[in-house]
Amino acid sequence: MKKVVGVQSIVQQKNVAANLADPTFSAAVISWQKQHGRHKLPWQNTRDAYRIWLSEIMLQQTQVTAVIPYYTRFLVRFPDIASLAAAPADQVMAHWSGLGYYSRARNLHRCAQRICAEYGGVFPADPELLADLPGIGRSTAAAISAFAYGTRAAILDGNVKRVFCRIFGIDGYPGEKPVEQILWHRAEALLPAREMEAYTQGLMDLGATLCTRSRPSCASCPLAQRCIAFATNRVDQLPVRKPKKAIPEKHTAMLVIVDRNQVLLEQRPGIGIWGGLLSLPELDRLAPDRDGSADQASMQAAVTEAIAPFGPLASCERLLPFSHGFTHFKLHVSPYRITLARRLSPAGQINHVWYGIERLAQAPLPAPVRKLLFAVFGEADLLSGGA
Ligand code: ADE
Repeated sequence: MKKVVGVQSIVQQKNVAANLADPTFSAAVISWQKQHGRHKLPWQNTRDAYRIWLSEIMLQQTQVTAVIPYYTRFLVRFPDIASLAAAPADQVMAHWSGLGYYSRARNLHRCAQRICAEYGGVFPADPELLADLPGIGRSTAAAISAFAYGTRAAILDGNVKRVFCRIFGIDGYPGEKPVEQILWHRAEALLPAREMEAYTQGLMDLGATLCTRSRPSCASCPLAQRCIAFATNRVDQLPVRKPKKAIPEKHTAMLVIVDRNQVLLEQRPGIGIWGGLLSLPELDRLAPDRDGSADQASMQAAVTEAIAPFGPLASCERLLPFSHGFTHFKLHVSPYRITLARRLSPAGQINHVWYGIERLAQAPLPAPVRKLLFAVFGEADLLSGGA
């Protein structure tokens, strides 16, 4: 579906584009591409939109060297859009097998069928029509249209984003919408009046061969003189990397229930964190009280209820809280040492076991539980072994 863009926004976009225009930018890219760019890739030196489209889809998430043998084999089996559209899906998938990101192959097949059904087998030149087809995004549509028809349309793939972020010193993470929008404005504004093929290929070649993610070759770059990242010594900091997600934090209360020379352990279910290990009974309800201002009465009531199947409460002592870091979250533990007035018979205590404190060193315990039990019982050998 075509998007309807308001008149106001078109005027604004044109103004922005006019302010950012700089014909010397595209001239430098085109001249460099002609002298130093890539010219002999299998999908170059053709105006065949089918071959160009196929290459752009294969190159979406895959390096040139990996694509070349697949591209060649694919074209032997499916030399034109009609043969691809008519092929059984499993044959298309078989020729994609090993290239990865298989939704690309499914979309490729659907796209071929739509081009045949809706456009008589001829790719439209309008990037907006191309971008309405399966698997073709805005940047891919522009690349196909520029290479096949010389259309003035802006590309903005990952490599080009990196080039623009460095040249223009763009400080935000390019995966964020507002930053991406700034980049699109730049890309549109910088389009040359002619030689779209050399310009488009030049941007791709710069990103792939000189302005690489690590150890870029700034000394050979035709844009180094105008590159803000280069001038400000921030080439290795731009583009800004994806912000790391804050690690989630979880809170739990662990009950160290002691009776005579034994501690009550709980068998964790086979799946999930600590699957199959022995751990301590936990009481989430006590956990949110992170600042130590526990209401003594409600804490006693919760503990009394939780330990009821094991025996009546004799004492409950709040121990020093501690934290344990996992790869994906941080666990804050509020531990309680509990003694029973009397131990009830094991009935109703499935998944729980009274474990001799002297045997804890050999128990399959999660690291924070081992840490806690060591602190409680002070047995040096508790620290050896375990999970
Ligand atoms: N990556 C995406 N499109 C490309 C092209 N036409 N040539 C080289 N690498 C590319």
